[in-house]
Amino acid sequence: MKPVLDYLRNHQPRFLAELGDYLRFPSVSAQPEHQPDLQACAEWLARHCTQIGLTAEVRPTAGNPVVLARTPRTAGSRKPHYIVYGHYDVQPPEPLELWQSPPFEPRVAGRNLFARGSTDNKGQNFAHLKAVEAYLKTGTPLPCDLTFLLEGEEEVGSRSLSTFLQTNRKELACDAFVISDTGMPAPNCPALGYGLRGIIAFEITVHGPARDLHSGIFGGAVENPAIALARILAQVHDARGRIRIPGFYDGVIPLTKFERAEMKRFPMKDAQLKKLLGVRQLFGEAGYSPTEQRTARPTFEINGLTSGYQGSGSKTIVPAWARAKITCRLVPGQVPGQVRKKVLAWLKKICPPTVRLEITAGHGAEAYVFSPDGKPAQAALRALEQAFGRKPILMREGGSIPIVNQFKQILGVDSLLLGLGLPDDNAHSPNEKFNLDCFEKGQAMSAWLWQELAK
Ligand code: BES
Ligand code: MN
Repeated sequence: MKPVLDYLRNHQPRFLAELGDYLRFPSVSAQPEHQPDLQACAEWLARHCTQIGLTAEVRPTAGNPVVLARTPRTAGSRKPHYIVYGHYDVQPPEPLELWQSPPFEPRVAGRNLFARGSTDNKGQNFAHLKAVEAYLKTGTPLPCDLTFLLEGEEEVGSRSLSTFLQTNRKELACDAFVISDTGMPAPNCPALGYGLRGIIAFEITVHGPARDLHSGIFGGAVENPAIALARILAQVHDARGRIRIPGFYDGVIPLTKFERAEMKRFPMKDAQLKKLLGVRQLFGEAGYSPTEQRTARPTFEINGLTSGYQGSGSKTIVPAWARAKITCRLVPGQVPGQVRKKVLAWLKKICPPTVRLEITAGHGAEAYVFSPDGKPAQAALRALEQAFGRKPILMREGGSIPIVNQFKQILGVDSLLLGLGLPDDNAHSPNEKFNLDCFEKGQAMSAWLWQELAK
C-alpha cells in the first residue's frame, strides 16, 4: 500500500489540474442545448480512463452516453468485483450572477475548488479514478476487479441507465456498488451512508382566463390563478410542519431507537445549521430533530413557482396561469406510485372550480436503506477510518440517488455510500465547491477500500 499512498501524495497538483479539465465541460443534463457538452465530457472521461490504464468505452444509450471502464482482468480471475458508480452530468448553474467566478472555470481558493459539478459529482468520482490510477501506475496488484460506471443523466432521473442495466446484466454482475455521491458532516468526520430518501416529482399548472387580462378592467371578477395556486399550496402543511394530505404518511417505517441515537451524534448543532443555511429560524415537522427531519422524514417541497410578469417594473395583469414544480422526498415504507396518487387526488379535490388544474407527472423512486452490519459496510468503515484517521459515523442521507434501487432490483446488490461532500459545498447552488482535503482523503479511502473489501 505504501507505493499507492506515496503516488497519491506526490501527484496532487496534476490531479487538481486534471479535475479542472473535467469540470470545464458544461455537462448540464437538464438543458438540451448542452447535449454536445455531455457527449464531449463522456469522451474526455473515457480517454482519461484509458490513459490511467483502464479499458474504457463510451456506450451510447437512448439519452446521454454511459462511460464504462474496467481494470485489466487476469483470465480466470476469481477476485471480487465492485462497480464504482458516479455521474458526469451536473445541475444547471443558474442564477449565474450569484457566482463569484464562472461556474465552468474552476478556481482554487485555499483548500476549496469552486466549479459546478465539483462536489456533485465529478470531484467525488474522480477521487476513485485517481486511487485506481495509483494502483495501476505503481504496478500494485488490485485485490478486486473494478468497473467504473459513470452516467450522464443522474440529475434528471437516470432514465436511460435502467435499460442499460437490463441489457448489460452479465457484464455488470458484481458484489456491490461503491458510490461517492453523498455527504459527510465535516472534514474531520467521515461517514458511511446507509440510506437515501426516495422522491416523486411533478408539476401543477393552474389555468385561469384564456389570456393575461388587464387587471383594472377585469380584475375582481375572475379568480387570479396565482392566488388560487397559493391557496392550494398553503394547505399542504399544518402549523406544526406536518403534511395534511390524507394517507401521505401511510406505511412510513418509524425510526428505531438506535437510529435516533446515532442521529444525535451528527456533529451539527441547530445554531450552526441555522447559520449555514442563512435562515432566521429552523422549521420542520414537530417531534423530530433537524437531522431526522432532513434525512428520515418525508417532505413536500415547492422547487419552483411561476406566474405572471417576471420582468422589471410593474405590469398590471391577471395572469392566465400559475405553475409550481414540486418534489416530495420519501422514506422507507412509502410507495412512490401510491403517494403520487394520494397527493394528486387531494390537489384535485381542493382545487377551486374557478380554475382548471393540469398535472404533469415526473420521475419517482423509492427510498433505500441497507444494513450497515454486513461485511462490505464494515470494510467501508475501516477504509474510512484509515484514510481520515477518525471513526466514521453512520448516517442516512436526505438526498436521492434513484438508480440504487435498480442496482438492487436488477442486479441484486447493495450500494455503499461513501460521501465526500460537505454541508457547505453548495451542491445545486451557486458557488459549488469541493474541499481538497476531502478529495485527497477520498483517494486514500478508495485505495484502502479495495484492500478491506477483499479481506
Ligand atoms: N448527489 C446527489 C444526491 C445526494 C446528495 C444524496 C447529498 C445524498 C446527499 C445527486 O446528484 C442528486 O442531486 N440527486 C437528485 C435526484 C433527483 C434529480 C432524482 C436529488 O436528490 O435531488
Ligand atoms: Mn445532484
